[in-house]
Amino acid sequence: MTLQEAKQQAREKMMPQCRMCKECDGVACRGEVPGMGGKGTGASFIRNVEALKNITLHLKTIHDVKDADLSFTLFGKTLSMPVMPAPVTGVNINMGNKMTEKDYIRGVVKGSEKVGILPMVGDSAFKSFLEDNLSVLQEENMAGIPFIKPWNQEELFARIDLAMASNPVALGVDIDSAGLDTLKIHGHRVDPKSLEELKAIKSYLTVPFIVKGIMTVEEAMLAVEAGADAIVVSNHGGRVLDHARATISVLPDIAKAVNGRVPVLADGGIRSGVDVFKFLALGADAVLIGRPFAQYAIGGGEEAVELYAKKIAQELKGAMLLTGIKDLQTLKEQGRSALHFEV
Ligand SMILES: Cc1cc2nc3c(=O)[nH]c(=O)nc-3n(C[C@H](O)[C@H](O)[C@H](O)COP(=O)(O)O)c2cc1C
Repeated sequence: MTLQEAKQQAREKMMPQCRMCKECDGVACRGEVPGMGGKGTGASFIRNVEALKNITLHLKTIHDVKDADLSFTLFGKTLSMPVMPAPVTGVNINMGNKMTEKDYIRGVVKGSEKVGILPMVGDSAFKSFLEDNLSVLQEENMAGIPFIKPWNQEELFARIDLAMASNPVALGVDIDSAGLDTLKIHGHRVDPKSLEELKAIKSYLTVPFIVKGIMTVEEAMLAVEAGADAIVVSNHGGRVLDHARATISVLPDIAKAVNGRVPVLADGGIRSGVDVFKFLALGADAVLIGRPFAQYAIGGGEEAVELYAKKIAQELKGAMLLTGIKDLQTLKEQGRSALHFEV
């Protein structure tokens, strides 16, 4: 199977909710939540992609960097690269409804295992999806990172108990889902979390706690104060607040303020290894890729997930070699000077 073939099959399985555009940029699917788009005008999803395009790289080929090391450690687990499939849930409400949630997530989980990265799985309006995701992790004996929605504390703790049975590496809460219309459409109420509530979640957990949906320096500091073991700079792929800032734009200040206290993960509009390079150069320790991993899992299962992940690794390595950067530490320290900001 080629990625092109997987893309074609994904188009057939995901229409009309995803058209598998030549460029996955949020334009054709503006406002389609549920679906694969961004909320409202779609501006947040579109801006995530556009802002990345405005950053270009200085090409350098007079240096002695001949290979680049991509290995990365998160919570004691060594991964082949600092890239993970973001939690993306809901085949029936978002992704064409032509396969089961379990079959879809199995592609993500097994493909991730093949390339040595950690899969993230999500939670949704239907509890069965979380259960399906967790049972696939268990069936495949794969440690992953489940993300639970910011339900009221009682429900949240009940779902944390459920998730713990899958022996997760860490557990996250996508606090930005307080703005997710899909939950409201299905009659669920989710609210923002107070600092005290976040602290209570941290105390309840016995694995590292990841707070996903951080878009300001202030909130990054609050998450760290609450005891988060990592944060994800994310606007949920533009699905929770229209006209939000692009994640790549807010990342540098957040990474600077966090200053290495906890890993800073980030996502939003990443489609290639060069995009990964830009995020790492601007302060992310690792990144999440959402829609593309989901689309390839639907179109070509574990094989396509593996092919896509390998393509990302190759492109990231290529970008490092052609900017004279030998490893991730150097990319973190000097990557910014490899970037140019177009006006
Ligand atoms: C259809 C769909 C479902 C999603 N489901 C979840 C979820 O269950 N939990 C979560 O934390 N984020 C969810 N997200 C957000 C992603 O984890 C991620 O933040 C976002 O997709 C990143 O942007 P990208 O798709 O442009 O890479 C979802 C995104 C999409 C498009």
